[in-house]
Amino acid sequence: MKIAKWVVREHVEGVPDVDRVYEKIVENVDVRLAPDEMLLRTLYVSVDPYLQGIALDTPIGRHMGADSIMEVVEAGPRAAHRVGDLVQGFGGWRTHVVSTGVPELWQTGTFPMVFPAYRRLDPRWYDDALPLPTALSVMGGPGMTAWGTLTKYMTISPGETLVISGASGPVGALVGQLAALAGARVIGTTSSPEKADYLTGLGFDAVIVYRHGDGADTVGDALVRAAPDGVDRYFDNLGGAVTDAVFPLLNIGSQVAVCWQWATQVGNEATGPRLLPYLMFPRATVRGIFSLEWFTEQNWQDLHTELGGRVRRGEVVCDHTLHHGFDAIPAAYGSLYGDRAANRGKVLVEL
Ligand SMILES: NC(=O)c1ccc[n+]([C@@H]2O[C@H](COP(=O)([O-])OP(=O)(O)OC[C@H]3O[C@@H](n4cnc5c(N)ncnc54)[C@H](OP(=O)(O)O)[C@@H]3O)[C@@H](O)[C@H]2O)c1
Repeated sequence: MKIAKWVVREHVEGVPDVDRVYEKIVENVDVRLAPDEMLLRTLYVSVDPYLQGIALDTPIGRHMGADSIMEVVEAGPRAAHRVGDLVQGFGGWRTHVVSTGVPELWQTGTFPMVFPAYRRLDPRWYDDALPLPTALSVMGGPGMTAWGTLTKYMTISPGETLVISGASGPVGALVGQLAALAGARVIGTTSSPEKADYLTGLGFDAVIVYRHGDGADTVGDALVRAAPDGVDRYFDNLGGAVTDAVFPLLNIGSQVAVCWQWATQVGNEATGPRLLPYLMFPRATVRGIFSLEWFTEQNWQDLHTELGGRVRRGEVVCDHTLHHGFDAIPAAYGSLYGDRAANRGKVLVEL
């Protein structure tokens, strides 16, 4: 059978030039499954900013890894899932996958991690209110990141001020909506006025238009106006100047969640002020977020009950921007970096 895949053909630092980085390969594969293997057909793939680092760490010629939803089309007698099962896993940018679906150690990167075993998606969890692609958004990694941060680390009390940098994606938008429901005053950053309106519509109290390259003074002035009583909670997706501007505003007992650092990883911004002195007097806590630690069966069930319940009741909104077709994957990924004004919520590709 023919299996198509996007492979990494060049390591390019900074904002991904998808035409240089990726190449489509079609192979004729004679599929002969081992007893514990499955042949899976990819239905949806996720495109995410963290793939920039994964691509840099992927050996040249190897397929691009990514979170995906797959259907089992053939299974050996000892395979983990049965024909017809739907699973979520790190299947990558491939039309079909031959795999056992066991956890995969990823140690070529700067930080070794384990991609979890393929997870069976219980069909009873998905319907019109929470369609299947939500297994890659509010009921998947982005939802677990937002919900996990707010249930397992960051506390929110009514009246506290939360700032979210890079707030318009699925993670920031969910953190903002959940914190607003808990009574926080929520301030987000986004780089376009249209998305500022979008965040206001989701219940954000103030939105600052900030784009990488804007000066720390400009964003700092805007933050002081938006948060006159200081910042109690900071959820950081961007780093760089916006983070430099938040730290001097941290209040006593504040908490910071470091979810991603766009400015360092993609923007090549390696210098800035020293931030540790700003933690001492406010006795602030800073914690790195690594959502894979929360990928347990119990947490998936709780996520469906708690966050899924809020979506079903219309209390929380999770939007999707759907691209179509295998060939559209690199461009869909590139849309996270160029003119992002049209993207709303989680960007996915339906194959
Ligand atoms: N640590 C973890 O465990 C974990 C788990 C999941 C996700 N993540 C990371 O968390 C981040 C948020 O996830 P997501 O799915 O919500 O991502 P997303 O949909 O791509 O959203 C990214 C946000 O970054 C902003 N942004 C991108 N380029 C920018 C630039 N040049 N200047 C200013 N802002 C810029 C976007 O702003 P606009 O409003 O202008 O589009 C958007 O608000 C991602 O970086 C993701 O990789 C981490």
